[in-house]
Amino acid sequence: MRTDKLFSGKTLAILSGGGDTPAINSSIEAVRNRASMLGFKVYGILRGWKGLLGDGDIVDLTNIPYNGIYGGTALLSSRTNPFPSKKHKEDRSQQILRNIERYKIDVLVTIGGDDTNGAAKRMYELYGIPVIGFPKTIDNDLRTRTIHHYHGVQHETVLCPGFPSGAMAVKKITSKLHTTNESHERIMVLEVMGRDAGWLTGSAIFGGAQVALVPEIEITKERKDFFFEFVKEKYMRSPKKSLIIAVSEGVRWYNDEKGETEMVYASSDLDEYGHPRFGGISGVIASEISKKTGIEARGQITGYIPRSGKCYEYDRRLTSTLADKVVDLLLREDYGKMPVMRDIVPYSELEEFHTDAIDMGNVGNFPLPHDYYDPNQFYFTDLYVDFLTNIIGEPYRMEFNHEFPVVIPQ
Ligand code: F6P
Repeated sequence: MRTDKLFSGKTLAILSGGGDTPAINSSIEAVRNRASMLGFKVYGILRGWKGLLGDGDIVDLTNIPYNGIYGGTALLSSRTNPFPSKKHKEDRSQQILRNIERYKIDVLVTIGGDDTNGAAKRMYELYGIPVIGFPKTIDNDLRTRTIHHYHGVQHETVLCPGFPSGAMAVKKITSKLHTTNESHERIMVLEVMGRDAGWLTGSAIFGGAQVALVPEIEITKERKDFFFEFVKEKYMRSPKKSLIIAVSEGVRWYNDEKGETEMVYASSDLDEYGHPRFGGISGVIASEISKKTGIEARGQITGYIPRSGKCYEYDRRLTSTLADKVVDLLLREDYGKMPVMRDIVPYSELEEFHTDAIDMGNVGNFPLPHDYYDPNQFYFTDLYVDFLTNIIGEPYRMEFNHEFPVVIPQ
């Protein structure tokens, strides 16, 4: 009988980069547990790629308790780009290489979106570093080549850990908002993160948002006029005289003064991957709706709330399932790959046999597909509803279902 484990004497290191999600600790825990069982010593690299710069910032995760339900990332995060960028001209990939050698890291697992995993892909392609990318983003815009089967037709879709928790949170927030909105017979414009993609905004319709705007469809001058008419009519026809409009933070909206469409930024300062910070479009749209339709409107930013808190159960199981696929890749020493779900399945079917591994060269951004959103109805399609129902259950809306007879003076 063998007494040593297959990977005894080897070290696997995990890092997390980019915006946090409620599912990162769950991913770290799941990968750590499986790698330990295979015999790896497991390190955690702090603050993404930054933890491999300078002298390195690394902790030992082997045989230490880990709380995978707690949201965020205990390994901390940064948007450090090892390769030259506008913000940081220097190529720091050699420092990374040096530390990988110094700390005797045999395999690197990079938990991230397109930016972190894009850098991992380059480390693999340029220097042959054994890398496994692990998907992560509430924006759900990292191409995972997942297939959504609907009425016998296959549609390419995306499923990234972190999105299910974010979507569940947006569903709950939207559902709550109805009470204040109905009380004042208002229009509420609810802003949702997601950068240039509308995946997360769609989850607001699961909490009862009746209208939605996504970054994939530009709001030109003509569309804006049509939108105001549409909103007014929808509001007038709503039984409670109340409307929730979900808008993606990255919506491109026509600015009457400038005569062009633009995005609204909280800060134009770019990060190391060249991204500005969005924020504030809901206020702009709410104020213009009030002016153009005469209906009272308010803006509300969901901001970091959907990104915060505990890992939702679908994400918990999703991260375990993808970590099972990591085991498969480790056993076959098949690097430069990212584990993904091959098909969209409900919670009970999240199993390793539904997974696949895609080449890191094939990762990249994947916006909301055209067949998930209907620009004429400013609303998501049945196809999208089917996709998300697998992940966060049926749409739900809290309702006060009483009608009071009107009193007529005698
Ligand atoms: O990419 C994830 C994300 O949450 C985006 O939806 C959002 O635009 C961005 O990160 C916010 O970044 P930061 O945490 O740097 O403010």
